[in-house]
Amino acid sequence: MSTLHLIDHPLVQHKLTLMRRKEASTNSFRRMLGELSTLIAYEITRDMPLQDIEIETPLETMTAKVIDGKKLVLVSILRAGNGFLDGMLNVVPGARIGHIGLYRDPETLQPVEYYFKMPSEMHERDVIVVDPMLATGNSAVAAVQQLKTKCRPKSIKFMCLLAAPEGVETFQNAHPDVDIYTAAVDRQLDSQGYILPGLGDAGDRIFGTK
Ligand code: URA
Repeated sequence: MSTLHLIDHPLVQHKLTLMRRKEASTNSFRRMLGELSTLIAYEITRDMPLQDIEIETPLETMTAKVIDGKKLVLVSILRAGNGFLDGMLNVVPGARIGHIGLYRDPETLQPVEYYFKMPSEMHERDVIVVDPMLATGNSAVAAVQQLKTKCRPKSIKFMCLLAAPEGVETFQNAHPDVDIYTAAVDRQLDSQGYILPGLGDAGDRIFGTK
């Protein structure tokens, strides 16, 4: 089974609480999501592989470490995943970006893909799939499945802000090889698939659409 990593850094927990409050304006919600994305990205990239290179300091040559391998790929599940990108790029500015768009078919209730665009040479790259809310888990499961089928990346991690226990279970059953990184696991889903106590509709709060 994959590992669920809870990012319990005090700054992450504090900012998450401010974001949950219904009084938080679009402006402050966005700013805090940006800050949180940077902090979570710092944690999730902790095990990136390093290689030694020779460099010259102003005083002498030395062997020093740099990140090994091809550039990381951040894959945003549209549309709320886009809210994570700028903050993450603060720590991995050279990362490539992919997008996956899915909607739920009103009859079958299954996710249907309407957009899929990835960088080249995905089979040599590590991927972080981002979506702020792991609720039912259906979109995340479908997005990761499409990635595996179409691109076969070197590795995949999934990053969110909030998860529901139901979503974690669904995701881990479907993708036992993909670790989940989240700032909190909340109590449950409501009948409409919202996370309780949650923070509401992440897309609406990021983009000010409600
Ligand atoms: N998506 C959201 O934006 N919020 C939820 O609570 C669940 C899914």
